[in-house]
Amino acid sequence: METLNMKFLPTVHSRKVLTTFIWLLILNLSLHQGNGLPYMTSDVQQVSGKSFDYIIVGGGTAGCPLAATLSEKFTVLLVERGGSPYGNPLVIEKKKYGFSLIQTDEFSSVAQSFISKDGVSNHRGRVLGGSSAINGGFYSRASEDFVKKAGWDEELVKEAYRWVESRVVFTPQLTPWQTVAKFGFLEAGIQPYNGFSLEHIEGTKVGGTVFDERGKRHTSADLLEAGNPKNIIVLLNTTVKNIIIDTNRKGNETRVRGIRFIKSDGSSSKIHDAYLNQPKNSSRWGDVILSAGALGSPQTLLLSGIGSHEHLKKFNISVNVGLEGVGDGMQDNPGIPVLADTMPAKRQPDAPSVVGITDDFRFIIQALVLPTSFNASITLIVAKIAIPASKGKLELNSTDPRQNPSVIFNYLADEKDLEECVKMVQLIERVAKSESVSLFMGIAPNNTKSMSSADQRRKLCKSSVRTYYHYHGGCRIGSVVDKDYRVYGVKGLRVIDGSTFEESPGTNPMATVMMLGRYQGIKMLQERKDDSQQHP
Ligand SMILES: Cc1cc2nc3c(=O)[nH]c(=O)nc-3n(C[C@H](O)[C@H](O)[C@H](O)COP(=O)(O)OP(=O)(O)OC[C@H]3O[C@@H](n4cnc5c(N)ncnc54)[C@H](O)[C@@H]3O)c2cc1C
Ligand SMILES: *[C@@H]1O[C@H](CO)[C@@H](O)[C@H](O)[C@H]1NC(C)=O
Ligand SMILES: *[C@@H]1O[C@H](CO)[C@@H](O)[C@H](O)[C@H]1NC(C)=O
Ligand SMILES: *[C@@H]1O[C@H](CO)[C@@H](O)[C@H](O)[C@H]1NC(C)=O
Ligand SMILES: *[C@@H]1O[C@H](CO)[C@@H](O)[C@H](O)[C@H]1NC(C)=O
Ligand SMILES: *[C@@H]1O[C@H](CO)[C@@H](O)[C@H](O)[C@H]1NC(C)=O
Ligand SMILES: *[C@@H]1O[C@H](CO)[C@@H](O)[C@H](O)[C@H]1NC(C)=O
Ligand SMILES: *[C@@H]1O[C@H](CO)[C@@H](O)[C@H](O)[C@H]1NC(C)=O
Repeated sequence: METLNMKFLPTVHSRKVLTTFIWLLILNLSLHQGNGLPYMTSDVQQVSGKSFDYIIVGGGTAGCPLAATLSEKFTVLLVERGGSPYGNPLVIEKKKYGFSLIQTDEFSSVAQSFISKDGVSNHRGRVLGGSSAINGGFYSRASEDFVKKAGWDEELVKEAYRWVESRVVFTPQLTPWQTVAKFGFLEAGIQPYNGFSLEHIEGTKVGGTVFDERGKRHTSADLLEAGNPKNIIVLLNTTVKNIIIDTNRKGNETRVRGIRFIKSDGSSSKIHDAYLNQPKNSSRWGDVILSAGALGSPQTLLLSGIGSHEHLKKFNISVNVGLEGVGDGMQDNPGIPVLADTMPAKRQPDAPSVVGITDDFRFIIQALVLPTSFNASITLIVAKIAIPASKGKLELNSTDPRQNPSVIFNYLADEKDLEECVKMVQLIERVAKSESVSLFMGIAPNNTKSMSSADQRRKLCKSSVRTYYHYHGGCRIGSVVDKDYRVYGVKGLRVIDGSTFEESPGTNPMATVMMLGRYQGIKMLQERKDDSQQHP
């Protein structure tokens, strides 16, 4: 499909129509080779009181591939607080990239904005597809080191990446600005040039994208088509309030029974329940799996009485499991943006498709055009510190699950991060001053402003640090979940999403979050299979 291109269409009118038709046919066949989307409803009554083998909270980047995979053998309820991405131009249209971030409201927009206690404004997805429906769509795998450190099965990881890639990942056509950025990175010494690659390799490369040749976005929701649609119900516009947990009479076993949920639009305060199936043999019970993202998953645990005694007491939430680590280790990679333009201009929004990976994988640099309003945009070069030292914390700010929790990332609080940032600013300056970028912007290369001292660069770091949107943590492995992503101290509960990461994988995390949903789904199917083979 990647090899087909509008350019190859002949110019003779009748042939053009015919070829276009055939081209669309091929595209349609290859895009809809799955089993079709599962049943979706926003009617809580249709699910209220029912039982399922697995319940997944959050139809986001990890939740959708996980649901598709588990549905191969089991019934799955997937609950998403937002609506459907299908037919929504803010999600689907590449030319509207970035507009969802400037069109937010409190309870219904596809992007929910939040401001961390650092004062940095940020966004999270609130739609089926999650943040993969509002993001830059840049797709790039994690390094082999990351996979080894995680202790994952390397072959299965590759298989899971390929499963994702065959469905929602495309080769980008470079826009003029992306081409300029590519040459700018190379001029700045980010070598070698690796061409198109999905691997995490040092140098300058073109990565994958979830935008297809027609400029349409494919979110993680499209991965649902790979499952058994008869086994999945997607409940939209529904916010999970908490998990139903009980402790047996002997008081030595705490187990999850189901979830409580409300309508997201606030039209009713009625609370509904859904349950896990409970076969006679309790070792055959499924799980509730939180895939609500780095903010949503720790928030849902806290609202369910899983967290530190002290914090839960402040909100009068009775403690089901005392687990200090919930909400700890929140991280957001510090990002420094530099305006490539001297004046705001109206350029088409442009998502990144080129990346520079440099200084022993410590810095990641990309270029993009983001709309700032409906008639203006900014052209940016942005870089992030790949492995910051500073960590923060997430806490509740309300017992309303529709409200954002409060989070602090402590950007650049650790002196090491500030030192890294100074080096990173020098890198961005080199790119901004490159002949490629200067010529494109119509600025004399020597006229681009440059900081003269480390002190000035430190000040710039502090004053202009922003999010690179790769925030993670809050339910980290070894602290909140074990190696199988099971929450400590309670049976039948897992967390599978970006909240489990100690560091953000690869250049950009989406590829690995999607892969993780598929990978853990397969692991869970295998566990059950081993189980039934041993005890038929
Ligand atoms: C603006 C932006 C740009 C980005 N650009 C890129 C990029 O180009 N490339 C890249 O690799 N990464 C990018 N990222 C990062 C990447 O998109 C995220 O790291 C990743 O999508 C997180 O996946 P997740 O599954 O952890 O969470 P999400 O995808 O956010 O999924 C969480 C889901 O849970 C739902 N939810 C939360 N709470 C509840 C509840 N109580 N009840 C029901 N549902 C709930 C949410 O609505 C959401 O759908 C970007 C992120 C943003 C925000
Ligand atoms: C679901 O919520 C979205 C966003 O608020 C809204 O646009 C949509 O109409 C809702 N769908 C239903 C069926 O209520
Ligand atoms: C709880 O206690 C009973 C007997 O007292 C025991 O059989 C069971 O294995 C215990 N369960 C757990 C999870 O420790
Ligand atoms: C339940 O299943 C487990 C593991 O599958 C097995 O060890 C156990 O014997 C089974 N118990 C009963 C009562 O069937
Ligand atoms: C918790 O309960 C106490 C006593 O009932 C009450 O005074 C306090 O306001 C409650 N706090 C919250 C956050 O609801
Ligand atoms: C964009 O439009 C708004 C009104 O919608 C106007 O106030 C603003 O000046 C315009 N900006 C530019 C750069 O044209
Ligand atoms: C917490 O909620 C209050 C209102 O309930 C709001 O004023 C405040 O800004 C919130 N704080 C954060 C950090 O979100
Ligand atoms: C920029 O400055 C360098 C030396 O400082 C000089 O060699 C070069 O010719 C200048 N380039 C332009 C375009 O003025």
